[in-house]
Amino acid sequence: MANRWINQLTERDVTEEAAYLNRRQIIGGAAAGLALMAQGAGAQEALTPSEWEDITQYNNYYEFGTDKGDPARYAGALTTAPWTLRIDGLVDRPGDYAFEDIMKAMTIEERIYRLRCVEAWSMVVPWNGFELADLLNMAGVQSGATYVAFETAYRPEEMPGLRFPVLDWPYVEGLRLDEAMHPLTIMATGIYGRDIPNQNGAPLRLVVPWKYGFKSIKSVVRVTLTDSQPPTSWNKAGPREYGFYSNVNPEVSHPRWSQADERPIGGGLFARRQPTLMFNGYAEEVAGLYEGMDLTANF
Ligand code: MTE
Repeated sequence: MANRWINQLTERDVTEEAAYLNRRQIIGGAAAGLALMAQGAGAQEALTPSEWEDITQYNNYYEFGTDKGDPARYAGALTTAPWTLRIDGLVDRPGDYAFEDIMKAMTIEERIYRLRCVEAWSMVVPWNGFELADLLNMAGVQSGATYVAFETAYRPEEMPGLRFPVLDWPYVEGLRLDEAMHPLTIMATGIYGRDIPNQNGAPLRLVVPWKYGFKSIKSVVRVTLTDSQPPTSWNKAGPREYGFYSNVNPEVSHPRWSQADERPIGGGLFARRQPTLMFNGYAEEVAGLYEGMDLTANF
């Protein structure tokens, strides 16, 4: 591969682990935020297992329910080992790949990325993972492939949220092939040096740092190379609000809120908002992918 990833963020940029895990309490309401602030430095001390339980209770993982506490409550039931990833479609070596075999074949790296949620907060998180390109190359991408489709596990017996038709199950996502092959795009298997908790998408979750968080499909069981743009869950649910690309773009507002600025998580409840950067600060690396495209129409 021509260009490998270069880290431009350092230890000093990293959002405090406790703040990352507490972010939804921090932004979820003044009361919760103030309680956290009252804790002061206590919130940033080394985590005990019970704190870890406490602070991973606010997540978006609708297969476990739409309440922020549901994923933490129910995701423990998700069997993440053994785990099999099916890679199919326009590849030379389609098949069911065991997670451990993938882990043996891939080069695991730590990636420190800014990550933005569509709800206008941002953080810098150290992920452990491998380049999606390496996985796709392992399967051998055929010349006719132009898109990659992703699918989350569909397990009604383990995922109580699947009973509710809030999204068209299974959860699906997609990338254009050049986006998928970009060295910034990773499959994450760890966070802050630990395995990803189930509620955050164990054992394998997509991270595309120049796109909004909902593109980060969790607990991926299938990757399909295709020659047409695949459907994506949030676009199907709200086509006016969520486009296929979902690139971080301060110039294109969500119909219900501005996306021009963000609150850095970890700076406290009253941290000054900062302007959101085009492509989440990765314009130099990825703007070329969209040259000549109308990003207002392709949001
Ligand atoms: N993946 C699946 N399978 N199901 C989901 O509901 N939610 C998405 C994304 N991936 C979601 C998902 C949304 S809306 C966001 S903001 C991020 O996961 C949240 O990831 P986090 O809880 O690790 O921050």
